[in-house]
Parts: sequence; C-alpha cells; structure tokens
Amino acid sequence: MKFFIETYGCQMNVSDSELISGILQNAGWEAVSAIDDADLILFNTCSVRQHAEERVLGRISNEKHRKQQNPQLKIAVLGCMAQRVGKRLLEKEFGVDYVVGVDQYLQLPELLNKDGGSEIEFDHFQIYPGLKPVHSDNTCAFVTIMRGCDNFCSYCIVPHVRGRERSVALDEIIDEVAKCGDNGLKDVTLLGQNVNSYRWNDYDFPKLLRELNKIDSIYRLRFVTSHPKDLSDDLVAAMADCDKVCEHIHLPLQSGSDMVLRAMNRKYTFGHYLDLTKKLRQAMPDISLTTDLIAGFPGETRLDFEMTLEAMREIQFDYAFCFKYSEREGTAACSFENKVPEAERLARLQEMIELQRKITLEKFSAQIGSEVEIYVESLSKKSSRQISGKTRDYKIAVMDGDESDIGTLKKARVKSATAGTLICK
Ligand code: 5AD
Ligand code: SF4
Repeated sequence: MKFFIETYGCQMNVSDSELISGILQNAGWEAVSAIDDADLILFNTCSVRQHAEERVLGRISNEKHRKQQNPQLKIAVLGCMAQRVGKRLLEKEFGVDYVVGVDQYLQLPELLNKDGGSEIEFDHFQIYPGLKPVHSDNTCAFVTIMRGCDNFCSYCIVPHVRGRERSVALDEIIDEVAKCGDNGLKDVTLLGQNVNSYRWNDYDFPKLLRELNKIDSIYRLRFVTSHPKDLSDDLVAAMADCDKVCEHIHLPLQSGSDMVLRAMNRKYTFGHYLDLTKKLRQAMPDISLTTDLIAGFPGETRLDFEMTLEAMREIQFDYAFCFKYSEREGTAACSFENKVPEAERLARLQEMIELQRKITLEKFSAQIGSEVEIYVESLSKKSSRQISGKTRDYKIAVMDGDESDIGTLKKARVKSATAGTLICK
C-alpha cells in the first residue's frame, strides 16, 4: 500500500510529516512522490490562520473525486486542524476517512486497518521517543527538540492544539543531529514552538547548543522559534561562541505598541525587544534578524500600527513575515472588542509588506561587495548552470556551478541583489 503526504504550515509540520513517514514505512507502507500513485492521501494541516484551514479544505475537495475511479482510496487529515476540528471532519461532505491529532501518530497504522475513524485525544507527554524521521531533503534537516507551547498569546491557537511544552532527551537529539551530518544533511535547524524553553535534566537551550556544536559531521546549526521574553544572555553568549551556530535569529515581535503587546499577552515591551536586538548585534555584528508581525489585532489604533512601522524602520529586519490578524475560535482575543474592520486589516498588512520590501532590498543590497559562505542546496530553478543555497545569515544566494557542488560550502562575493536573492560569484 502506497501513501502520499501533503504538508501545510510551519517547519514543525514538515518535521512531523517526516516522523509520520517513518511510522508508516516501519509498518510496511511505501511512500510515493506522485499523488496519482497513492492508495492513501494524508494532509498534514495548519490551523494558525483561518485561511490556512480553508486552503486545505479546498485541496481535499479537489482530490476526493479520485475516490470514484479508485474506491479503495482513503483520505486522512492530520495535524493542527485535525486536532482543532476533530471528528466533524469525518462528516460525509468533506470526503475524509481518517482524522488523527498531533499526539496520536503512533496509532495511525492500526487505525488504517479499519475502514475509517479518528484518534484525536491529547497526550500531554507524547514526544515520540526513539522514533526516527525519514528526512525529506538531501542537504538540510529539521530536528524537533521540543513540542507544545505554554505561552498562550491571546491570538494563537497553537497552545490549544499542540498542548503543553515537553522536551526531547539530550542524547536522542545528539544522535539525530550526528546522523543527519553523517548522511549529508549538514545544515540542521532545531525546531520547537519556543526553543528557549528547552529543558532536559540540567540542560537548557544554550547548553544544548554548546553540546551540538561539538558534532563534527555538521557544518551549520540554526533554530526556530525564539520567544523574546525567554531569550537569555546565556543564549546570546552561546550563539556567539559556537562556530556552527549561524548568525541569524528569528524573533517574532508581533507589534511595536506596548498596549497591543500587552493585549496579545506577549509579556515583553518594545523597549525590552529593542534591547535584545542591540545585545545580539553587539555580540554578533553581522547577525540577521527576521520576525513575525501581525496587522490589525483587536484594539490596534492607527497610532499603534504606526508604532509597528516605526519599529520596523528602527530595527531594520532582514525579513519580516507579515500577517493579517485572523480570529481563532477558543483563543482569548476572539472575544475582544474593538475588532479592526477586515478592509483596514488588509490595508495595514499591505502597508507593512511594502515597507518591509524596501528594507529587505536595502539589507540585501548592503551586502554587495562582501564575502559570504554559501552552503549549496540545489541547482538554481532558473538555470542548470547555476547553483542555489543559503548564506550563514539565511539569505538565498545563487552563483555559477553544477550538480557536483551540491552539499558543499563555497566562498563567494556578492555582485548584486534583489529583495530575496544575493547574486554571487
Ligand atoms: N492571526 C494572525 N497571525 C497569527 N499568528 C499566529 N496566530 C495568528 C492569528 N490568529 C502568526 C504570529 C506567529 C506566526 C507563526 O503566525 O505572527 O508568530
Ligand atoms: Fe503561539 Fe505565542 Fe506559543 Fe508562538 S509563543 S506558538 S505565537 S502562543
């Protein structure tokens, strides 16, 4: 029996799909890369914004016609939307046969022996010990180090669908990262909803980084996501000391207004965030900063929004993922008054994106003439005589080269830039 997985949402879902692939292959299933060949189509879903859920429902609706030609074909919904919406997804109109939540992937092979059904109970301790994911990339790897979130930001559904924080054992992480390096996956990104909360016996996140930095077989270490309230001086020091830890941090700001940050339950002020960026830049002058921002949170006035624009100008993020506030049932913000009208949310989002596009172009252009190290990940999409990879500070870079360069490190000089790519020689 053959399965095909389609993944939506964040890198944690990519990593979970690799885990699910491992579980199914251990149970005798075969992975296929073409949906036409599958007996089972799995959708690993995201719930963070309503739009993400609508997209998946649209995709399922597009694929369910396949059941007419192949009555054996089954469709499964996994991940955050499975957890949030639950058994309702089994109603006939959706065309879904199985619904499996984020803590129940071990039950999947057994459930698939039945004609249909769901497994959606929370298991607050589930960390999938001893399970080996099947990595889907040839050069870079994601390694999950913790699951869940205890922060309850007032807009966010994640703590409601992913449960409480728990960490993977140190020796398991060390083994997995070393194995990745041995198998040619030299750029490893550690994943967690809040990696700064990592704790295993006496090991916190900075100590974990220092241990992983000793692994010879990898070139680079990265991590996402960090919460500004937990980013310690110890972590800044560990980043600066560890040669494999790249000069990049993704640190979601969300808003530049203290009033909005308070309503979001973010537990820091803009001043605190700004101090962090200064500490990071002092310790690592070339560090790149990326962030997440939300436009049109309930109660956000024009003045609050302008504080976010001002924060963007002041900090000069290398890149910002900008989102329009989306109501998520069950979160605290859902019942807040003073909702910003949808059209205004959209207008603010567009303003934000436009400002960031200019800043990103300036940041990329500022690197023209400098020397960068590129880890080559693939041939460039535009030309088979060009290669594409990332710099240590997480910028996409292209240069002349061929297939034999994939998986190697190149020193290159930046010749020109767009708001998304460094063109190098
Ligand atoms: N509406 C809009 N954006 C959201 N995010 C999380 N929840 C919501 C929501 N309800 C954004 C935050 C977070 C990123 C992963 O998604 O910016 O950092
Ligand atoms: Fe959501 Fe906040 Fe947890 Fe991030 S830290 S997953 S935004 S609740």
